Amino acid sequence: MGTYLFGNTGELLDPQFDALSSLLDAGTFARVEQLGIADGWRCLEVGGGGGSVANWLADVVAPSGHVTVTDIDVTRLEERDNVTVLEHDVVSNILPGNAFDLVHARLVLFHLPARDAVLRKLRDALRPGGWLVLDEFDCLPLEVLKTGDPDDAKLIMRVKNALLTLLEQAGAELAWGARIEKALLDTGLHDVSGSREVQEWEGGSPGCRLLATSARQVRAKLPLSDDEFDRYLELMASPDTVVSSYAMCSAQGRR
Ligand SMILES: C[S@@+](CC[C@H](N)C(=O)[O-])C[C@H]1O[C@@H](n2cnc3c(N)ncnc32)[C@H](O)[C@@H]1O
Repeated sequence: MGTYLFGNTGELLDPQFDALSSLLDAGTFARVEQLGIADGWRCLEVGGGGGSVANWLADVVAPSGHVTVTDIDVTRLEERDNVTVLEHDVVSNILPGNAFDLVHARLVLFHLPARDAVLRKLRDALRPGGWLVLDEFDCLPLEVLKTGDPDDAKLIMRVKNALLTLLEQAGAELAWGARIEKALLDTGLHDVSGSREVQEWEGGSPGCRLLATSARQVRAKLPLSDDEFDRYLELMASPDTVVSSYAMCSAQGRR
């Protein structure tokens, strides 16, 4: 199986991409800067979503560099002078070989049952010496650290478990983030390194906004009453709630 769980969720894509950008862009940008990205680099951003990473890359590699940004849904992506937007399924469509100085994908392979084959495809899209960078979640560490009421903690865990079950049924690998460094090594990349961070997410923070938006995107499939669902959204917005985050995992390696 494998049908992207959050596809076709219309207006809820905007809060999802906003939350992802607020939560993850600073870390992604810092990692890519450390690689020495500069004017002239040719970049591929896979599953670019709302476009925040592609737009940043385009600024950094201008004026002579170029960014190709792909997605199965390109409605939020903008063409610019040095940005090509491609409606493209990274599982079934081809990519040019030996073409890019940097290939980056964030929270895309997590969803794809064919992730290991896709990884080899991304490796082959790199020019020799080019960098592959992945940012992914390991969803298992999410736990409740603080709520006003034990029933609220139970509700948060019920929603977590229901959401993770749906993700897994749609083909996601829930702890994929924990495996990415090894996956890059197994694909034959060199100079592989990685990092993993678990934060505390307070209600109202980008992390809790992401959890709330994810639940809204799959609302019809969650086994919750309307009152329980409304309470969950309140908890995700309340500063009295604190959860330990999904582990945010990154890894990089060069061809
Ligand atoms: C969780 S979002 C992450 C978006 C963006 N990378 C970010 O981190 O802000 C996953 C993205 O992958 C895209 N996607 C899902 N399956 C895909 C596929 N087979 N090929 C390309 N993109 C895909 C989705 O449309 C969505 O934009």
